[in-house]
Amino acid sequence: MKLQPVRGTRDIYGDEARLFREIDQHFAKTASLFDFQEIETPIFEFTSVFQRTLGEGSDIVNKEMYTFEDRSGDSLTLRPEGTASVARAVISNSMLRDLPLKLFYSGPMFRHERPQKGRYRQFTQFGIELIGVPTPVADIEVLACAWMFFKNCQLSDKVQLELNTIGDADSRDQYRSRLVSHFEKFSKDLSEDSQVRLKSNPLRILDSKDPKDQALIADAPLFSDSLNPASQQFFDQVVEGLNQLNIPFQLNSKLVRGLDYYCHTVFEFTTTHLGSQNAVLSGGRYNDLIESMGGPSTPGVGWAAGTDRLALLLEKPRTHHQNVAVIAAVAEAEPLLLPLVSELRDNNIASQLIYSGNMSKQLKKANKRNCSHAILIGEDEIQSGQYQLKHFADGSQISVSKQELLRKLKEL
Ligand code: HAM
Repeated sequence: MKLQPVRGTRDIYGDEARLFREIDQHFAKTASLFDFQEIETPIFEFTSVFQRTLGEGSDIVNKEMYTFEDRSGDSLTLRPEGTASVARAVISNSMLRDLPLKLFYSGPMFRHERPQKGRYRQFTQFGIELIGVPTPVADIEVLACAWMFFKNCQLSDKVQLELNTIGDADSRDQYRSRLVSHFEKFSKDLSEDSQVRLKSNPLRILDSKDPKDQALIADAPLFSDSLNPASQQFFDQVVEGLNQLNIPFQLNSKLVRGLDYYCHTVFEFTTTHLGSQNAVLSGGRYNDLIESMGGPSTPGVGWAAGTDRLALLLEKPRTHHQNVAVIAAVAEAEPLLLPLVSELRDNNIASQLIYSGNMSKQLKKANKRNCSHAILIGEDEIQSGQYQLKHFADGSQISVSKQELLRKLKEL
């Protein structure tokens, strides 16, 4: 049997690993510009952290959590997302005394979903949470941060912001009963999953991709007709803020999101470049989450993005580093190699040894390893203290002193 990683997990290396790092750097830089501070929570939590907060009727809780009993008999769950963990952390560490809190995080998440391109059982998310601001300015700020991230990665022309409101609890209660009366009339025609959702979480039917549900969804009542004036005003201010900042968006009244903790603003940045796994960044407002976990009533809004999907969108790493191979042309030069690479690295010049093979083989290997330059040390060079500097791109080779060598390579 071939040794394989577990289904839905994979090894990340080479260009993909470089892309992951590039994305993380863009994210950390953008988050810092907005003054978000890093937080790292454990990869597993007590199951209760996710169970009630994400919603007993949600797909994640019902079908996708990696839950196990540990040796002490505690029920633990590998985190399926970051928001509930962050909410737990800010309560546990009494961080809510000094609001607002602006936190960012990144790391692996786990969901037992059907694997396909862009959808994995272990995947990486990064995200931000702005906690303690009840007004729409927080929703606008987190969206501005997402938009700036896409601009920094030059992805803003590949994504589209879809925006909706699911109002406050009163608006949602009203809408839920209108929706249930609509779908109950056709309950037998709904897909099996949606028949269950009709009882547990009717709003989620709107999210169904099942063709059986599509026609019934098209005729469903609109949320906007159930929004009370306060919820409508809140949403109008979010829309106004996005317009003011020239952040393009599309209203999507069917966008409901798969987690129960949301209220008011919900959004997704989608792309047409990734097939069915089209959401690359999603989030919304959660005013009751922290209180539902035993903390003081504290509003929040935030988002998380999928690094794996963004890496597919970005294609190739753009931060290509100069790298220099140091090669001995004759055996006598070998003792000079380690001190020279060490000096180059002390001068912040990325450099490497090729370790084996004669000079021409080493040059071939250096080229294959994407080195931009090679430094050759031969007999003459040992005598004169001069080095041969070869530039792979144009094949040129010049003789330079150590000082010149360092100066030239630092300039690159
Ligand atoms: P989510 O929509 O479940 O929201 O996930 C956020 C992002 O994670 C998605 O847009 C997608 O890019 C990525 N993602 C989700 N599942 C997978 C998967 N199986 N494989 C690869 N990528 C995936 C949340 O998790 C919320 N905590 C977001 C949030 C933060 N809301 C408020 N604050």
